[in-house]
Amino acid sequence: MKTKHVIDLEDLSLDELMEIIQLANRIKEKPSDYSEVCHGKILATLFYEPSTRTQMSFKTAMLRLGGSFIGFDNPQNSSVSKGESLKDTITVVGGYADIIAIRHPLEGTAKAASMYSAAPVINAGDGGHLHPTQTLTDVVTLYNEKGRLDNMCIGLCGDLKNGRTVHSLIKTMSHFKNNRFVLISTPELSVPQYIKDVMNVSDCEYTEVNSLKEAIPMLDVLYMTRIQQERFKSQEDYEKQKGIFVLDKEKLLNAKRDLKILHPLPRVDEITTDVDYDERAKYFAQTIYGMYARMALIMTMLNHPDKNAAPRIMPTHNLRCKNPNCITLTEKYLPSIFREVGGDMLICKYCDGRTLI
Ligand code: NCD
Repeated sequence: MKTKHVIDLEDLSLDELMEIIQLANRIKEKPSDYSEVCHGKILATLFYEPSTRTQMSFKTAMLRLGGSFIGFDNPQNSSVSKGESLKDTITVVGGYADIIAIRHPLEGTAKAASMYSAAPVINAGDGGHLHPTQTLTDVVTLYNEKGRLDNMCIGLCGDLKNGRTVHSLIKTMSHFKNNRFVLISTPELSVPQYIKDVMNVSDCEYTEVNSLKEAIPMLDVLYMTRIQQERFKSQEDYEKQKGIFVLDKEKLLNAKRDLKILHPLPRVDEITTDVDYDERAKYFAQTIYGMYARMALIMTMLNHPDKNAAPRIMPTHNLRCKNPNCITLTEKYLPSIFREVGGDMLICKYCDGRTLI
């Protein structure tokens, strides 16, 4: 794999992605062949935000490969509580561990971490931005459960604005031929502009609708998500959005027989529990695929030859990102790095936020 760090699943070519999917399947077929391949290697899990599945599946993956792990799941128990910068924490942990998985509430944190780490960095979720290893989990699930990654009508339902798993999944699936998206949300929680830009650039057909019931008959895949309460400005705003989209047995009566229902979990109330017994529900199987997907990713990334931290990166512009959730606003030493997209518009290379010059 060419890339050292995985901040976005698009850091991998499609061929590299397919190789990881195949490797995940080989591990799933015969785990005993892989039980010592990471012997002596250490994974650091730095979780600045709550997690059950992602954190545990990373740790389980490393243990099942014969390696071990260090880290924290509550930054208050680390020197972060004393005011240590991300840069310093990562510089140190990048020397202790062979690979790092990091989750943080602010967008662009994994990218920032990768600039200071000697060890490869995996983005385990950066605010409402991206979540590449959930997408790897989702594509391994779809490859096994649908037998293909192209020619699908994919419905995504719920909090499409703040749901980082949604953003990463659309980015990846838009590279496979003939996929189209049905985006089911309220207008307030529709996908961000940069994700629409991705679909437009790859000529992917998409429609934005507000009825799950009407959309369901046309779908090959339904990706349900929870409303991301922690990303709302106020409890009142959240209350207005919760409970609007609920998948139940009745709605499934009109769905295709070979529909696959995915959900990154945790579920709140958006899928009723009786759906769990429908053979089309794949969200618990998905968590197991996720463990094999992470085993394959860790194995592959540990082979990267570059064991040094990147040279110092210089700012490209003399202004700050306008996204209030961007990591550069709190970790002020980070150099401003933008991509120019013509006109007055700059795109922040940490968080993909748009800033006008
Ligand atoms: C997701 C996340 O953290 O973004 N969960 C996960 O990693 N499996 C989805 C969510 O929290 O709703």
